Formats: sequence, structure tokens, C-alpha cells
Amino acid sequence: MTTPPTARPATIAVRAGHAPDPVTGAIAEPITLSTTFLREPDGTFTSGYIYSREKAPNRTALEGALAALDGGEDAAAFSSGLAATSALLQALRPGDHVICPREVYYGVKKLLGQVFAPWGLEHSIVDTTDLDAVRAAVRPTTRLLWAESPSNPTVAVSDLSALAEIAHAAGALFAVDNTWGTPFGQRVLELGADVAMYSTTKYHGGHSDVLGGALVARTRGAWWERVRMLQATMGAVPSAFDAWLIHRGIASMECRVQRHSSNAESVARGLEGHPALEAVHYPGLERHPGHAIARRQMRMFGGMISIQVKGGAAEALAVTGRVRLFTRATSLGGVESLIEHRHSIEGPESPTPPNLLRLSIGLEDPQDLLDDLRMAVGRG
Ligand SMILES: Cc1ncc(COP(=O)(O)O)c(C=O)c1O
Repeated sequence: MTTPPTARPATIAVRAGHAPDPVTGAIAEPITLSTTFLREPDGTFTSGYIYSREKAPNRTALEGALAALDGGEDAAAFSSGLAATSALLQALRPGDHVICPREVYYGVKKLLGQVFAPWGLEHSIVDTTDLDAVRAAVRPTTRLLWAESPSNPTVAVSDLSALAEIAHAAGALFAVDNTWGTPFGQRVLELGADVAMYSTTKYHGGHSDVLGGALVARTRGAWWERVRMLQATMGAVPSAFDAWLIHRGIASMECRVQRHSSNAESVARGLEGHPALEAVHYPGLERHPGHAIARRQMRMFGGMISIQVKGGAAEALAVTGRVRLFTRATSLGGVESLIEHRHSIEGPESPTPPNLLRLSIGLEDPQDLLDDLRMAVGRG
């Protein structure tokens, strides 16, 4: 009943961390709500559990599945993607330098600028699709190169193997936010990343009903021990139920990601060249500037598309008002398709084009999704 060592990701997703309960025989994993665990008269803890901020059964099962899924030595689960990102940044020291992509989830820039800069962590914002620019940004104090590919929300593609080489030549860690790629679409640890970061709120959970984050380490090092210490000491950990929901989501994740991806490809191809659109951004399209790299480093192109509408922000917002099937909401990776005007959610400093709409393609019939968007975009 254990996962064979040669198991492939789809098998790992269904099996890892799941075993019949030794007491009741329950096939579905029980949810352990207890925050505290029995101590023996000699002072030891035979179960290995002491107090749930430090370690808890549903989190242990989830972390085992997360590590196995990416082929990492260990994984740490957090209460959100940004909590996971914060733990990695906190594992660095004041005076260290981080290279952060220009095309990145805006919350990461906010963390670096508003939380970690006052703490003494230095950073440069660089276009990570331009390898020379990344090389030029390296300093003797650079300790972390962060990448996000495909990026949120412009779907930019960076060359992950090349970035890994630059980071390692500089003696820095290379971390990849693989939330959009997913462990099925993009094997970032195999491409040279030292750590994969996920907002497990998205495709792992998969149903828009749980918040979570994860770090998966290729190998354990001193930095990883510090991440583990921060997880237990700062306590930004998922509840038992949240860990359980994300672990359950992982079981169906491979099938969902396949469908998200094939739906997105159909929708992107169906919208490409539409007269009301200035651009359709999807790494699976031959015209995408990162397509050749995406073909090399991705097994699936993912479920995220962004489109730029002719007529500016006003027309983009009007499109979101005309859709009938897509839901106007933030976030991504759930079963239902979502549409969002990113510029207005990211605030006035946002570098996102004002006419850009981000589409999280769900599991509906792709033709229905395309019909809805064509109707909403209008004009021909
Ligand atoms: C690519 C990416 N990374 C990180 C995050 C942050 O994750 P969370 O909202 O779980 O903190 C998001 C959220 O939208 C995201 O899209």
C-alpha cells in the first residue's frame, strides 16, 4: 500500500501520504484536531508529535505528498503562498540581496518593499527574461534569485535552467514560484531550482475554498533548517482541516491540471487574432515570445491566459461586465473560470497594462468558455 519508489507524478498525487488508518481502517485520512499530544512518564513523545504549531498529523501527511510530488527531499506547508514566501525571505539575513523578477505576483514586490526592506534585506527588480540583465544585477551579497514562470499576470516565460546556472555561479539559492506551472506542468527542481514555492490556494486545493502555501526543497541544507525553524516558531501554518483539504485536492490535481491546460489552449487559440483584442498571452501559442523556452521546460502550458483589449481600461472593465459564464473574481486555479481586471486590483503603482484581463480557465466545456468570451469581447 506504499507508493513505489519509481511511481510517476499522477500515481504519487493519488497515493502519497494516504494510508488506511491503523486503528479504524478508514480509507479517507482522519482529521486530527488536537493541538497537543500525549507525553510518556519518561518525558518522551512516542507519537513524534508534541504541539501542533510545530508538527501535526495532517500537515505531516500533506508535506510528504508535496515533497514526493516535486521530487524534493522535504516540504514545508504554510497558511498561504505569501507566508511560504516570507519564510524563505526570513531565512536570509539583513544585508543580503535578492533578485526579484519584474514580472511577478505583485504581493512579492510588496513584501520585499514594505516588509523586508525596512528589515535590511536588499533587492533589485529585474526582467528575468533577459539573462544579461540578471547577470548584471548579481552582487557579492546576492543570496537568492527568485523566478516566476509563467508569471502573474502577464504570462512571461523565463529560462529556468539558465537562471539556475546564474544563481549557482553567484553562490545564491534559486527559488521558483511554480504556482502557475504546477508540479505536473513544470518540474522546477529538475530544471535546477533549489526550492519550489506554491500558493496551494490555487491548483493544489483546486476548488477556491482553502488558503495555503508550500516550499519544497530539492535538498536539505542549513537554509532549510532555518525555514523549518521559522515555520514552527512564527507559526504561519495551515489548520488541520486546511491541510486535509489541500492534501485531498492533490489527489485529483493531475486530471484537473490536464483539463485546465487543454481548455486554456483551446480558448487561447480561439481568441488569437480576434479583431477586438490587442494581444492574447499564452505560452502554448507559437507567437508567444517565450514559446520556444516554454516548450523546452513545460510539459503542459497551464490554465492561465491574459488578454489585452482594444479600447483601454474602460473597455476591459466593460468586457468583465458582459461575461455570463466567467465569474468576476480574483484568484485562480479553481474548477470555475474567473476573469479579472488586474491593474485595478494591484493599485496605482501597478506595471500591469490597464487593458489587461487575466483569465483563470476552469474545467467547463471549452467551447462554452470561448462563446462567452467572444460575446463579451464583441466586435466581430
Ligand atoms: C503566482 C502566485 N504566487 C503567489 C501568490 C500568493 O499566494 P496566496 O494568496 O496563497 O498567499 C499568488 C496569489 O494569487 C499567485 O498567483
